[in-house]
Amino acid sequence: MNINDYNAGIRRIVISEEEIRSAITKAGAMISEKYKGEPVLLVSVLKGAFIFLADLARAISIPCEIGFMEAKSYFADTKSSGSVAITMDLKHDVSKYHVIIVEDIIDTGRTLKEIAKIISSRKPLSLEIVTLLDKPSRRVVELNADYSLFTIPDLFVIGYGLDFDEYYRNLPYIAEFNESLL
Ligand code: IMP
Ligand code: MG
Repeated sequence: MNINDYNAGIRRIVISEEEIRSAITKAGAMISEKYKGEPVLLVSVLKGAFIFLADLARAISIPCEIGFMEAKSYFADTKSSGSVAITMDLKHDVSKYHVIIVEDIIDTGRTLKEIAKIISSRKPLSLEIVTLLDKPSRRVVELNADYSLFTIPDLFVIGYGLDFDEYYRNLPYIAEFNESLL
């Protein structure tokens, strides 16, 4: 992508670095308090949540382990359910942990619902979902995060791990993508 198109794709900042940082500090403190003395596994679904996970993990002050999954979703638009194939699985035996799924954004909710179902079937001590962003107006399946840092309207956003066509993940803030470039 050329630099002019790249810059034109960033329409406006929706959530600043400072706002993200302070929300993550609060979430980290809450998780540290809630899970004190318990075995915790933070599970991130690649790739979008990698930056959120890195910052959230550093805001948590209790011992915790970190695992990654990668999944491919196959959803026909007309169906409300589909399937998720795991392309890289967790190495941990989740039955020994309180699992916290760390997600970048919940949109339709379909991918995360399937992932939560797969992890649940392995009988973790408990399972919670923490998401940086939530777009509730787009939901097509019933799925709610236990903790959502920001609720946003139906905008396509980029930055802080979120991409458009694999670009913009490295922006330090969340921005609205300028879809007129499409
Ligand atoms: P869903 O909840 O199954 O629809 O899928 C959510 C996934 O779609 C997220 O993990 C993102 O990878 C992607 N996604 C949804 N909304 C956005 C957005 O506004 N910007 C970038 N990626 C998005
Ligand atoms: Mg994602």
